[in-house]
Amino acid sequence: MRIETHDPDDLGAALARRVAGDLAAAIETRGQASIAVPGGSTPAAFLGALGEADLDWKRVTATLTDERWVASDHARSNQRQLAGTLFAGRAVVAGFVPLYAGGAEPEDAIAATASALDPLLPLDVCVLGMGGDCHTASLFPGSPQLDAALDPEAGPVMAVTAPGQPERRITLTAPVLSGARRVYLLIRGAEKRAALDEALGLDPRRAPIRAVLNRATEWRVFYAD
Ligand code: 6PG
Repeated sequence: MRIETHDPDDLGAALARRVAGDLAAAIETRGQASIAVPGGSTPAAFLGALGEADLDWKRVTATLTDERWVASDHARSNQRQLAGTLFAGRAVVAGFVPLYAGGAEPEDAIAATASALDPLLPLDVCVLGMGGDCHTASLFPGSPQLDAALDPEAGPVMAVTAPGQPERRITLTAPVLSGARRVYLLIRGAEKRAALDEALGLDPRRAPIRAVLNRATEWRVFYAD
């Protein structure tokens, strides 16, 4: 298990240092870099620390691993969280490809969002979160679209229904998430650690995080209690 355990107070900054190094290397090699970051509550410290990294941010384009289908000023918007963390510092000049595009349903945005994402792929860095049910991004166990989103031939982005979630979702699909040059999973708490340990022995449809990590070339878990 490629898991790094960190002090809770340094977890976000430790991952930010590692990711900043990856992005700098990509810029050095290819003149540009791309990254997908998660929503939820865990990544705030990481996103804030990364946004202060001394990088040529004009050469970096960021996107989200997934988004709730709500306006970007809505309290549950992942894009809104980035405005107060990643883009609150030096990274404000970075490029950004949003997943929420307005409109009634995420299905209406898939073609345009896929086109906007295309220049970012393969991602240089993908940072994932995980729920206690082993969902990652918006790849949820029990979702009617899960098999399609896990399919190696899936398109880059998909509209999904997430069981138990209050809104529709739009998500990067498993091949895009695992196809990143560097994949990191950022989790906190013994419950998620135990869920991850169990997930790696489960059917990927019961533990979508397994499907993504199994196919990733380079992945590491950044963990703190
Ligand atoms: C989202 C995230 C989702 C998140 C997990 C963990 O939109 O909610 O992308 O996949 O990473 O649900 O969320 P927490 O960090 O809040 O536990």
